[in-house]
Order: sequence, then C-alpha cells, then structure tokens
Amino acid sequence: MKNYSRRKFIKKSGISAIASIGTSVILNNSCEDDISISQSQGKYMGDFSAPKIKNIKAAFIGVGSRGIGHVNNFKTHKDTEILSVCDLYKKRVENLTKKLNLNLSTDGYWGDENAWIKMVEDKRPDIVFISTNWDNHAPMAIRCMELGSHVFVEVPLANTIEDLWKIVNTSEKTQKHCMMLENVNYAREELMFLNICRQGKIGEFLHAEAAYIHDLRWQMMEKNNNMQIPDDFPGTGSWRTKQYSKNIGNLYPTHGLGPVAQYMSLARGDDNFNKIVSLSSPSRGRELFAKNHFPKDDEWNKINYQNGDINTSIIKTTYGKTIMIQWDETSPRPYTRHNLIQGTKGTLAGFPTRVFFDNKEGALSGVYSGWIQGGDLDSIYKKYDHPLYKRLNDKTSNSGHGGMDGIMMYRIIECLKKGSPLDQNVYEGAFWSAVTPLSRISVINDGAPQSFPDFTRGNWKSTKPLDIIQ
Ligand SMILES: NC(=O)c1ccc[n+]([C@@H]2O[C@H](COP(=O)([O-])OP(=O)(O)OC[C@H]3O[C@@H](n4cnc5c(N)ncnc54)[C@H](O)[C@@H]3O)[C@@H](O)[C@H]2O)c1
Repeated sequence: MKNYSRRKFIKKSGISAIASIGTSVILNNSCEDDISISQSQGKYMGDFSAPKIKNIKAAFIGVGSRGIGHVNNFKTHKDTEILSVCDLYKKRVENLTKKLNLNLSTDGYWGDENAWIKMVEDKRPDIVFISTNWDNHAPMAIRCMELGSHVFVEVPLANTIEDLWKIVNTSEKTQKHCMMLENVNYAREELMFLNICRQGKIGEFLHAEAAYIHDLRWQMMEKNNNMQIPDDFPGTGSWRTKQYSKNIGNLYPTHGLGPVAQYMSLARGDDNFNKIVSLSSPSRGRELFAKNHFPKDDEWNKINYQNGDINTSIIKTTYGKTIMIQWDETSPRPYTRHNLIQGTKGTLAGFPTRVFFDNKEGALSGVYSGWIQGGDLDSIYKKYDHPLYKRLNDKTSNSGHGGMDGIMMYRIIECLKKGSPLDQNVYEGAFWSAVTPLSRISVINDGAPQSFPDFTRGNWKSTKPLDIIQ
C-alpha cells in the first residue's frame, strides 16, 4: 500500500480491458479487520486546513471531456498558474493547449500510462486535478499526495473499499487534501435546500432519496472515430461501457447522494452512514442497444452486461434515518437525481423543484394543499437562495452544468488561498463512493445488509457540519 509501484499501476489501469477485468473481484467487506488498512498513520483530516497558498500552481491528469472543463475554469482565476497537463493522447494535449491558448511545457506528458508521474515529479504542483477513467483515480490520487500535492479527484473517488481506505490513510499520513469533485453539491437547487435544512424549516430529518438516472446508452458510440468527440479518440463510452460488464450494483452514486448527505450532515457530527441493502433489476438495455446499433461481431455485442439496468439501495444511518438511492444509466427515462429530503416539518424535492412545509391547518384537518412549485417558487428562491449562489452565479453561470462547476472551482481556490477547510473532506468522498462496492456485495447476496466501514474511525462525531458559506 505504501508504495504504489508503476508495475501495480499499469496492472490496474483502465487502458487495458484485460487488466481491468482482472481487478473485478468480489471484495469482502471486512477491511476494518485488516489492521494495515484501518489504523491511521497520520492525523484526522475532517476539519483539516492546509497552509495558505498565495499563488496556486496546478497540474491536470486526463483532459478528455471532463478534464478540459476543469482546465478552462481554473484558468479564469487570478493568483493561479497551470504548470502542465497530461493525457494518454498527444493530440488531445495539443488540442487543449491550442484551444485554451496555453503556453505550457507538456513534452513527454502523454503517450504512456505513467507519464503523469513524470509530470508531477518534474513540476511539483500544489494541486492536481484527476479526470480519468474510474480505475485510475485511486492510484493517481495516492501517488500525487505522496509526491506532495493536494488532489482533486473526479467522481467516484475509487471503486473498492480497499482503495478508499488507502486514499484516506494516505491523506492522513501526508496531510494533503483529497477532495472528490462532487459538483452537484454546488447546484442552485441543492444549495438552496441545504440552506432551508440548516434553518430548521423541515424539522428533524427522517428520509432522503437520491439518484443518478441518466440514459447514457449513446456513450457506447464513443469508440474510435466516434461522432460525439471530434478529435478521433476513444471517449467516455470506450471505458465506461466495460464497467457494466465487469461491475455490479450502483456504479455512480455520488451525484445524488453527496447533496443529501450534506443536508443530513452525515459523517459530520449529526449522524453517519451505517448499513446498506441493495437489489438490481435484470440487465436488458445495453444488450438490446448493442444489437440494434453495432455489427454482430462488434465488441459491444460480445460483452456480458451482467449489471442490472436499474439498481435500488436503501441506506440506514447510525440514528435510523433512511436514504433510498437509485442508479440507472441505461433505461429510456428522463434524467433525475431525485434530490428529496423529508423531515418532521416538511419535504423538499427535485426534478422538478418542489417544496412543502407543514402547516397547522393541514395537520389538523388532514387536508393538505400540494407542492409549492413552478412559478410559485419565486418567493422561495428569493427567501432561501444560498448566499454562495447569490454571490457567484453571475460569474459562474457559463462554467458548465448550469454554473455548479464554476462555483465548485471558485470555492476550491478560495479555500486554498485562505487556508480554510474544503467543503468536502476525504471521508465524505469515501463514504459516498463506498456505495458502489457495498451495493455490489449486497446485490450478489440477495440484498443482504452490508456495513459501511467508518472511514473516520469515530472522529465524525466531533467533525463540524458544513456551514452556510457566505
Ligand atoms: N462531475 C461531473 O459532472 C462529471 C461529468 C463527466 C465525467 N465525470 C467524471 O470525470 C472522469 C472522466 O470522465 P470523462 O467523461 O472525461 O472521460 P474521458 O474518457 O472523456 O476522459 C478521460 C481522459 O483520461 C485520459 N487518461 C486515461 N488514463 C490516463 C493516464 N494513465 N494518464 C493520463 N491520462 C489518462 C484519457 O486519455 C482521456 O482523455 C470520470 O471519473 C467521470 O466519472 C464527471
């Protein structure tokens, strides 16, 4: 675990399908019994703040469809410097530097699975953004922290409980931030709901619903010479499609779960993740899509899409609250993250945005009027829009995903400059991502409950809830 060797990295890396499939083992959920994994070799990172950084020097690993946005957003900030970028493909690096008009030394930081190590060793950046395929996140994050950089890692943080522990341990040992880039926590609706929750308007939390339901079958077209990405390189679908065959359970839990976990202050003083049960539907959509859109001998027609199209899990918290979480990237249905939080005094829900507050008349008569929604929400936005959204929306609205990407980047830079804790700590990234490996074991065992490891080793009880940042 200490030294993540290059050899190990190549073995794990997503560029080789065979290597990837080789890592697809059923993990047993007993990592806490393994002392090398569960004993801290450093200091707790829950409210960690790093020394202030005056001029933030960044490097970027992976400049595919997501990474390019991070480079673009970072570049708009003063007191920052882009040291270099790295990708497997030279042309992708060149296209990016040309498009964004960046004068960088990128020589040698492409064309090799491990070129990123050379980049980080040569450049010694303060921070590294990691926007590669999922299997690469953990080894890259761990090595970059060991080399002295804070890391900002795309979702999910890692795919296995073992890797999540390694990330937590490395962050504690090196005293480097490791923030998973959960941008949805910075969306207008999610920020407003956090504000309403913090003001106690929906009372004591009882239940939440989260999801990532997004029909991404079209990504299967993103192979070589695809139509979606004009630079002729394999796109997201080239590696993500393989995940549906090598993995099982909820493969992308964090966009829906991150926000509701922060409403409920899970792993931050008030409550924590305890158990999960999970079941999946049959797997049909990917196979049908492949049959309808690819030649008989295409690799997409040879894969066993073993993962059910829709996965449904229920999390139980330490204090007995429930979170229903769903994942489906395959079925023909409209996008939703559910984003529902229900309390003793009201309920807030997304897709479409709706709020409901208890009132005396309804409670006495049992007759309630419906949701406040549509045009009627104007007064709610006026009263409860989050201060961060009000402060930053004008500057960030064109930054990607309706402005959430820009607010997230703004906050990262603001916190690093001020030397304040980040909005998402390493344990939150680990808990939110742990749904994938735990749901896998539960599904394989007919929905048997699985315990979340306590990545904080009990320290969540004294960790501050996320403030309403002005
Ligand atoms: N938060 C969001 O809204 C959001 C949106 C899209 C994707 N994502 C996440 O971003 C990540 C990347 O997804 P994507 O859609 O950009 O995928 P992509 O395939 O378009 O880009 C990944 C890039 O990483 C590069 N790469 C892979 N291995 C590498 C290595 N060893 N060294 C250097 N570069 C390497 C690839 O060449 C590619 O350019 C994923 O984790 C995904 O889940 C997040």
